[in-house]
Amino acid sequence: MSTTGTDPREPGTDSPRPPATPAGAEVRVLEPGEFRSAHALFGAALHAGGPVDDEHWARTRLSYAPGRTFGVDLPAGTLAGTAMSFGSALTVPGGARVPMAAVTRVGVRADRTRRGLLTALMREQLSDAADRGEVAATLRASEARIYGRFGYGVASRGRNLRVTAGARFRVGAPSGGEVRLLHPEEAAGILPPLYARILADTARAGPIVRDEGWWAHVLRSRRSDDQARGIAVHTGSGGDDGFATWTVRQDGTDFGENVLELADLHAATPQATAGLWRFLLGIDLLRAVSAHLRPLDEPLDLFLEDPRACRTTGVGDETWLRLLDVPAALAARSWGETAGEPLRLRVHDALFPANDGVHLVGGRASGSNGADPADPAPAGDGPADLECDVAGLAMAYLGDRRPSELVASGWWTAHDGAAVGRADRLFAAPGPGSVPWCGTFF
Ligand SMILES: CC(C)(COP(=O)(O)OP(=O)(O)OC[C@H]1O[C@@H](n2cnc3c(N)ncnc32)[C@H](O)[C@@H]1OP(=O)(O)O)[C@@H](O)C(=O)NCCC(=O)NCCS
Repeated sequence: MSTTGTDPREPGTDSPRPPATPAGAEVRVLEPGEFRSAHALFGAALHAGGPVDDEHWARTRLSYAPGRTFGVDLPAGTLAGTAMSFGSALTVPGGARVPMAAVTRVGVRADRTRRGLLTALMREQLSDAADRGEVAATLRASEARIYGRFGYGVASRGRNLRVTAGARFRVGAPSGGEVRLLHPEEAAGILPPLYARILADTARAGPIVRDEGWWAHVLRSRRSDDQARGIAVHTGSGGDDGFATWTVRQDGTDFGENVLELADLHAATPQATAGLWRFLLGIDLLRAVSAHLRPLDEPLDLFLEDPRACRTTGVGDETWLRLLDVPAALAARSWGETAGEPLRLRVHDALFPANDGVHLVGGRASGSNGADPADPAPAGDGPADLECDVAGLAMAYLGDRRPSELVASGWWTAHDGAAVGRADRLFAAPGPGSVPWCGTFF
């Protein structure tokens, strides 16, 4: 990994080069006995509530994967910053899944920010993930200005919704199946395998594998005596095919002011998607259902008699993607066009020299960049049709942004104008559900 340099810009791009690690900042892998302090530090950095009491820690501790939590110390040995990840896999266009580090719980003590500690943590974490053979790292960003300098780009987006409770479904909207409520104890045995089945069949790029720690953390926070939270499963003709979890927030003194906040909804079929939304919108004593970062192409408004009952209140970034092994990532995904000569794409990457160079994208070999996914072609040299940095590539990789948008906005450079339309066709994710979306918060 290159860590020094006097030029603050990536060659050929406007991307800032990450600053060098500050002297004396030593990043190390934390021992399991230190995870609770790391969690407290992260919570304080996010202003996320009080102390990590025993109950809180009992449900959180399992989500800390040994060997994957980093810390950086003050000279006196006190923890000053932390970042962790869990091992996952990312679904790429075409349905293949690549090993991925799901990065989370990133925080630096408020009295030690802007000294390069996050930079030191990120370098170590990304290099550790690459050494593990992980092809990518992804995260959710608290602020949009933090992670671009480390090569992360926004690779999927979602829309926030507020839907009027009781909104009626059109005659002809998908229907059928049953919805049943689950107790949290039952959910632990039903939701993880159901999610895995839905994931296995998905045509969409972006969904990730959820590990046991993720489920333990999420489900344990749903105690059986907590009446404000709910879990429901949809059953269609082939068995359980979708689920939803939520919390009800009491907005006023009147029961009718309640707002149901959807936490998680995944479904294998349009019937299951419609069935779960129909159920949620039909629950009594609600004013509205709100949802955060739903898929941009979720057809809820198309299901409703009054499409304005489903109001988009915002669109935001969801997956921030850092490609760690560009040749492997390009070999893993399928491409929208397989005929013709491969496109020559020059990628800049200040952290990983193996990514830095000209990559062949698409081309005659069907379904890939012409390379064997198990033995992808390394970056080469020579002239290129198009040029971008590794964050810009991430923005197109899952199909969220078209290369032509990225050229027009200055994220990519075109050396051959004819290559731009070709790049759009190549990078387009194939098939229905082609808008990338993850749907897992971590
Ligand atoms: C975000 C956070 C981890 C950054 O840590 P840090 O140690 O201050 O980061 P660094 O000093 O390594 O910053 C590197 C660069 O990024 C910039 N940067 C970092 N965080 C930034 C932010 N929130 N907004 C704008 N710029 C930011 C720094 O200014 C610095 O740039 P410079 O070298 O050109 O001055 C820290 O501010 C924090 O803990 N924030 C609250 C919790 C949080 O949001 N965590 C992220 C969860 S996704």
